[in-house]
Amino acid sequence: MQFKELEENIMNKVKIGVLGAYRGTSMINYCKHAGNAEVAAICDKCPETLEAQRANAEGLDIAFYDNFEDFIKHDMDAVVLANYANEHASFAIKAMKLGKHVFSEVLPVQTMKEAVELVEAAEETKMIYAYGENYCYMPAPYEMKKLYTKNKIGELEYAECEYIHNCESIWPSITYGEKEHWRNNMYSTFYCTHSLGPIIHATGLRPVSVIGFEGTKNERNLRVGAKGGMFGIEMVTLENGGIVKSIHGGLYENSIWYSMYGSKGRMECGREVPGSGHINTIYLDYNKFSGDYNHHESESYNPAHGMEDMAKGYGHGGSDFYTMWHFIEKIKGNPDADIIDVYEALDMFLPGMFAYRSILDGGKSQEIPNLRDKSIRGRWRNDTACTDPKAAGDMLLPVFSKGTPDIDDGVYEYMKKLWDEECQKEDGNYRAQAFKQGSKGYK
Ligand SMILES: NC(=O)c1ccc[n+]([C@@H]2O[C@H](COP(=O)([O-])OP(=O)(O)OC[C@H]3O[C@@H](n4cnc5c(N)ncnc54)[C@H](O)[C@@H]3O)[C@@H](O)[C@H]2O)c1
Repeated sequence: MQFKELEENIMNKVKIGVLGAYRGTSMINYCKHAGNAEVAAICDKCPETLEAQRANAEGLDIAFYDNFEDFIKHDMDAVVLANYANEHASFAIKAMKLGKHVFSEVLPVQTMKEAVELVEAAEETKMIYAYGENYCYMPAPYEMKKLYTKNKIGELEYAECEYIHNCESIWPSITYGEKEHWRNNMYSTFYCTHSLGPIIHATGLRPVSVIGFEGTKNERNLRVGAKGGMFGIEMVTLENGGIVKSIHGGLYENSIWYSMYGSKGRMECGREVPGSGHINTIYLDYNKFSGDYNHHESESYNPAHGMEDMAKGYGHGGSDFYTMWHFIEKIKGNPDADIIDVYEALDMFLPGMFAYRSILDGGKSQEIPNLRDKSIRGRWRNDTACTDPKAAGDMLLPVFSKGTPDIDDGVYEYMKKLWDEECQKEDGNYRAQAFKQGSKGYK
């Protein structure tokens, strides 16, 4: 890079504010190391987490806030929302209305009312909204997008996608013994975009209807205090008639896996087993055209984004680098920036929301609203149905289809005890260390 170009890049660094300083650490680290952005402000209501970020910010000009209202007034171009997964929408809307671009962690909204308001805020303000579904940018899923665009496997007919994460051993560190933590109160098909997202991003196809299935409750979720079903499944029909089976949740063995069948081939990543290459390796079987059975081609390789050196060490197979890189480059006007906009974010999430409505409706198929169409927004504008009492009003849904289970407070007290013990350990995880370093009294 020439000196002038380097100087311009430094001068034009995008100023970022980060809300939620636990998962937000990944985005803070991005800004510290990448050349195109800098952290201007960090906000977290938890004093220990904020204190730990302050300790890591020596020599940097970063302001610290413990509340969103003061934080959002800070001089910055964009905000990263890495707060609770069910509370992104209202902050995204406020930020865009105050002239800030938004990068939202998963999930985008928790109600249809929020979905309508989020879409309208993005349209009215014209600010950039980027949904941080990082799994789309993992090496093999991102290669699937490139190959699909090049018509390598033809038109999508069927896909399977899995995000299985058995979080039992880390549950104390990610819910801290809080009975009302969003992870304890999410329904089975809520956290759906790590699974379905990469298929939507690869194909650009809109989901039109869904049937949902709910995994049963068993000892594994009852003993950690999770009230929803063990896992969720969405059987999604896409606008071209293609069908996707998406599964996510806490089955015993972990799996991140994507497979797509097209009209002249199939591509998939490795299974989460030794020797397969997992999300770093793509397996491709295809013909030049449909029916060309004598010229079958089979390949497997480790695809490259082209920025591996910069992405090295970032979480989730380097994908945490790419989501931020594309967001910042989009703000800077780079035509190659590939973000997930507000409509696509909802194409990834609404199948999960409506799958739960299908479960509650005895397994009936549900139409998935397309909020690009202004004429249908009125129907959803006051729909607050969700499992969060703060947002639902009189449309509160049970967390489990057969009724929200009444879990004994002792379970949460035990989770809190395990969490406190983690905080005392010398080699406790990042969050535990943050709590240890910070001031006392966090509840
Ligand atoms: N994309 C991924 O791979 C990935 C991985 C982990 C978490 N996440 C997402 O990141 C987000 C955060 O998850 P987490 O694991 O950090 O745990 P979390 O949701 O428990 O933590 C959220 C943090 O935000 C802070 N916070 C919440 N509301 C606030 C407010 N109003 N004002 C100030 N601070 C507030 C909390 O104190 C906490 O530190 C969630 O949306 C989650 O879905 C994504």
